[in-house]
Amino acid sequence: MKTIQIGHLNQPSSRLIYGCMRINGDNSADAIEQGKNAIRAAVDAGYNHFDHADIYGNGECERIFGEVIKESPELRDQLIITSKAGIRFAGTPTADDVGRYDFSKEYITAQVEASLQRLNIDALDLFLLHRPDYLFDPQVVAETFEQLKRQGKVKQFGVSNFSPSQVSMLQSFSTEKLAVNQVEINIHNISAFENGTLDQCLEKHMVPMAWCPIATVVYEAWGNTFDQDTVNRIHQELDRQAQFYNEEKWIVILAWLMIHPANICPIVGSTNPERIKAATRALDIKYRREDWYRLLQARNGQPVP
Ligand SMILES: NC(=O)c1ccc[n+]([C@@H]2O[C@H](COP(=O)([O-])OP(=O)(O)OC[C@H]3O[C@@H](n4cnc5c(N)ncnc54)[C@H](OP(=O)(O)O)[C@@H]3O)[C@@H](O)[C@H]2O)c1
Repeated sequence: MKTIQIGHLNQPSSRLIYGCMRINGDNSADAIEQGKNAIRAAVDAGYNHFDHADIYGNGECERIFGEVIKESPELRDQLIITSKAGIRFAGTPTADDVGRYDFSKEYITAQVEASLQRLNIDALDLFLLHRPDYLFDPQVVAETFEQLKRQGKVKQFGVSNFSPSQVSMLQSFSTEKLAVNQVEINIHNISAFENGTLDQCLEKHMVPMAWCPIATVVYEAWGNTFDQDTVNRIHQELDRQAQFYNEEKWIVILAWLMIHPANICPIVGSTNPERIKAATRALDIKYRREDWYRLLQARNGQPVP
């Protein structure tokens, strides 16, 4: 597995990151066993970086991962464990509370502590703010980061779904270097290529982590805006490329993401051991610039100007 250094972490991260959002399945005993097998399959395939959030499966995904750590404690030091917080569901803590974002010191600190307990670990390698809280006070967040670092509960910090200006603004308050921005990047959502997110990652030596990387290729993207003609054009071009590279379309699209010089790290969310391993083949594709643009053209339905 190819690797990439993230900030000052004490080991490089695998270029493909395993996303744990789906490892609880329907919460049945069988699904949980499948989730644990997926984690082990990812380790066997060379993934050493696992992405979580407090809200995945309402904490269940972290708990399942924590069980694996308990069963195989030697894994802890081999892995980079990331989690996120900041999103509060409606109905918490009281029934009539609305869904909201909360970067208050009390809330973030409590969520990090709860994640550590569920994951059965002493410290997160990376902690990310999950979605920008419209009302966040960067001074408070900076103090929270410093306290979590001092207490040894988090080694490194980052953000998710932040705009470049939000990253710069928070960084200007925080002595903790922001190491990653985890954003949606796929053939449907190409905003990171256009809105400065990837430019900023290059400039500031941050690593972009891409969520839902294969949306549109195997399932409909969040907030899908594509009509059927667009989807057909994308698949027609992907069929051609799949034949050219002798690969499956969803693996080709991972190569499409990784060719960017910002070193996009796709977060792979399959719970199928064969697919988890197969995704690593994307790292061997010598993907061509002209194919990148052919796919963009198929997506946009017009040539670049
Ligand atoms: N920061 C954020 O706001 C945010 C938001 C969303 C997600 N995330 C992170 O990103 C990670 C990845 O997102 P994701 O789970 O959407 O990843 P993904 O890899 O784009 O999608 C995984 C889904 O696609 C299915 N799939 C994969 N290959 C397939 C194929 N060849 N044919 C049919 N279905 C296929 C998988 O089913 P099988 O399990 O059956 O293979 C699974 O349901 C999450 O786990 C989470 O860690 C972050």
